[in-house]
Amino acid sequence: MPVHAPAPFPAARLRRMRRTHALRDLVAEHAVTAADLIWPVFIREGTGVEEPVPSMPGVSRLSLDVMLRKAAEAHEAGVGAICLFPYTAPDLRTEDCAEAWNPENLTNRAIRLLKAELPGMAVMTDIALDPYNINGHDGFVVDGQILNDETVEALVRMALAQCEAGADILGPSDMMDGRIGAIRTATEAAGFQGVAILSYAAKFASGFYGPFRDAVGASGRLVGDKKTYQVNPANRLEALRCVARDLDEGADMVMVKPGMPYLDICRAVKDEFGVPTFAYQVSGEYAMLAGAIERGWLGETVMLESLLSFKRAGCDGVLTYFAPAAARALRG
Ligand code: PBG
Repeated sequence: MPVHAPAPFPAARLRRMRRTHALRDLVAEHAVTAADLIWPVFIREGTGVEEPVPSMPGVSRLSLDVMLRKAAEAHEAGVGAICLFPYTAPDLRTEDCAEAWNPENLTNRAIRLLKAELPGMAVMTDIALDPYNINGHDGFVVDGQILNDETVEALVRMALAQCEAGADILGPSDMMDGRIGAIRTATEAAGFQGVAILSYAAKFASGFYGPFRDAVGASGRLVGDKKTYQVNPANRLEALRCVARDLDEGADMVMVKPGMPYLDICRAVKDEFGVPTFAYQVSGEYAMLAGAIERGWLGETVMLESLLSFKRAGCDGVLTYFAPAAARALRG
């Protein structure tokens, strides 16, 4: 878009439109609203439990009753969607990951509870094997190799169980090849035509996921790294190919992850494809900001400022652990 060169000073004084709050708001180019936010939540067994995640100040693993109460508060403040991540009990983490497609697993019970009690809130899920896997990987591991096609079959089962429970949006975060097409074919065949897929299309092999792995109990278990399936942080064109591929296979929306260190990718995706584009402001980004705010090193304004960066970069919405706090801040 052409940027008009300003008239020479003093005909042009760019400070004129910055003079008051009302004038600044009149010419604001972007805005974050609570409706743009998807709130990722860590769930666990129990009742009345709120178990802090030390590497994520202000974030806790919640039992389903507490999760429901907090989801209702967030929804009341304007947050339109919630995304569930289970902390799976250690004895349910197995090599075959069978708990992932158990209709009664923690996530599927949470989906049913939310859809029964808070039908207006969209429920998004995570599709990947890591919360159920003995070794912390997103796919089946045999002889140190992450199996692609066998994993995709398991992901399809997982997706169908989540659809059965009432999920609105499926979030495949595993980065196996062919999973979007396989899930789309299966959901169509099973009659879940209305279930959307928000593909973690451009998911990079990032160091910023550390606190998340603490939260879901995968850090101590992870053997090796995820570089054979997540995208190399050096690669922009490959990220765009991932997005193109997932759209071709039937994704309704795409995600770039992490967020702030990859805003160039967000902008490129929006410009290139013009589709609903999301960023995930991941656990490590949250930890940096929330940790600095907690210590008084940064003011709380950085929360909304960071979310605005995603809108400026072309994103339609953001997955952020700040969602409830941001919604409250936006209410004033
Ligand atoms: C794994 C998954 C990860 C996140 C969401 N789903 C971590 C990983 O790939 O190891 C990270 C989210 C965050 O860091 O906030 N399927």
